[in-house]
Amino acid sequence: MTESRALAAQLDDAYTLAMSWLLARVYDRMMAAPEEACLRTWRAELLTGVSGEVLEVGAGTGASLAAYGAGVTRLVLTEPDPAMRARLDAAVASARPRATVLAAPAHALPFADASFDVVASFLVLCSVADASAALCELRRVLRPTGRLVFLEHVAAQANPRRLAWQHRVTPLWRLAAGNCHLARDTAAAIEGAGFVIEELRRESIRKAMPLARPSIRGWARRG
Ligand SMILES: C[S@@+](CC[C@H](N)C(=O)[O-])C[C@H]1O[C@@H](n2cnc3c(N)ncnc32)[C@H](O)[C@@H]1O
Repeated sequence: MTESRALAAQLDDAYTLAMSWLLARVYDRMMAAPEEACLRTWRAELLTGVSGEVLEVGAGTGASLAAYGAGVTRLVLTEPDPAMRARLDAAVASARPRATVLAAPAHALPFADASFDVVASFLVLCSVADASAALCELRRVLRPTGRLVFLEHVAAQANPRRLAWQHRVTPLWRLAAGNCHLARDTAAAIEGAGFVIEELRRESIRKAMPLARPSIRGWARRG
């Protein structure tokens, strides 16, 4: 029994490693169409005017790097997935050499309370194991005047048929797409963690996989 459990755990680890390697390899190609259609513009709009000390969690391959302006005095990027992080390291070296890259997961950040002026989360809260725990941690490291900037794909609340399909497909999708949950109510989770949402836009991510199109973006103050 113990041996079969150990074997199952090994197989699970091997599967996770293989999928992480594969996803990191195809991620930029997979996202090229939605980035071109809207995401690049939305990242730029959300990050325009962002200044001071900034933390971006789950920075992936560095798709937001080009959107950080001159007002950013310190940029820290976290990325727990080793295959993604290798790509992020390369992107940072060429685009933003003074930025720091860390492996820390969003729910356990190695920073004192109130360390950052801005925390950014782009397409990450769908993938973390516990969105509420991650959001509480993001709030902890924000200064009292700080702001959370977010762009996330979410539950299709306005479309019950699509929402039902999101729930049906999520168990398989999570296995293929780095624990991505299609039907999270992330706006509610943001408020549940104590943030006050000041700007919220709901829009379809054009050219994305249909079940991952409903999105929210905006910012919230620490509250
Ligand atoms: C869909 S990708 C988005 C990458 C990037 N933020 C972007 O906008 O392209 C999701 C990212 O969240 C990261 N991630 C997953 N779980 C995480 C966690 N617990 N803490 C921080 N990042 C996490 C993944 O490794 C992956 O890079």
